[in-house]
Amino acid sequence: MKTIHIGLLGFGVVGAGVAKLLKEKKDLLEARIGASLNLKTIADLDITTDRGVELTGTQLITDAVTVINDPDIDIIVELIGGKTIARDFILKTLENKKHVVTANKALLANFGNELVAVAGKNQVDLAFEASCGGCMPVIKSLRESLVANDIHGMCGILNGTCNYILSKMSQDGSLFEDALKKAQELGFAEAEPSLDVDGYDTAHKLAILSALAYGMEINLDDIHVEGIRNIGPADIGFAKDFGYTIKLLAIGKKHENHVEARVHPTMIHNSNPLSHVDHSMNAIAIDADATGRTMLYGHGAGMMPTASAVLSDIADIARNIIAGTRRRVPTLGYPEENIQKIPI
Ligand code: HSE
Repeated sequence: MKTIHIGLLGFGVVGAGVAKLLKEKKDLLEARIGASLNLKTIADLDITTDRGVELTGTQLITDAVTVINDPDIDIIVELIGGKTIARDFILKTLENKKHVVTANKALLANFGNELVAVAGKNQVDLAFEASCGGCMPVIKSLRESLVANDIHGMCGILNGTCNYILSKMSQDGSLFEDALKKAQELGFAEAEPSLDVDGYDTAHKLAILSALAYGMEINLDDIHVEGIRNIGPADIGFAKDFGYTIKLLAIGKKHENHVEARVHPTMIHNSNPLSHVDHSMNAIAIDADATGRTMLYGHGAGMMPTASAVLSDIADIARNIIAGTRRRVPTLGYPEENIQKIPI
């Protein structure tokens, strides 16, 4: 049986989840993929903290470049996050003609067009199911399952931290600051909470999903973004009185010559299932011509749900390697030459 070698950059919460799944689900993955997945090396600056993962057979080192340059490694999983060093590492990996799996939505939203082009030039995969909606298979839905549809619109709750805060404010009358503190204690919030609460994390995800849905370049700069900092108990109370719930929504609609893309708190009528998506859960409704409305719901963050999405990409790439195909579907669902610059 062929062995596919994997290098992991970043051994944080999600990295540890990926290592855990690769080790603990070894037999299941082998049976389903028809190849053995070997986590050959992990690179992280911290190689002493115990993450509770049994690492027999896996090297843990501090130097990411050694992993990227290892000729045995087929797939690099980037879970470092951020837009600087992660970008350098991904570019180098793609230039080395290795496949990349990443959960890095900020990087994709800001530099995705460049990364897609480099992946295309080198005929390798750049896969990012874990970048949007945690375990919800929203990337594969837009890129693959709904391939024969014109997508009219998408409407999603894509940030678990904001949804947790708004749900808590609605359920027990908490103030924004107290609910945020609780979200941080529970580990939902990004290291820099303004990415979450000011709507940027949701905008990153909407930029990626709009590109996939509408065949356009990733365009973060033109998305209207408004966060939830200014929502108070009075807003929540008035909305409730009229039968509505306030959620932070990502909305992407196709018009004739442009795409409408916005992120802001929205009053949703309680007859709409999105109004009942509580705690840190994510959901998205996708309106398309052949299917009508499709809804996905699931854990949008967290160690194992996000690791599960990363594994789905690793499995796709491993299956392609065994089949001898370098790339199965283009990164953004369209061949690079067909991606358009559509205004928002
Ligand atoms: N901080 C993000 C959230 C993590 O709260 O949804 C997952 O992207």
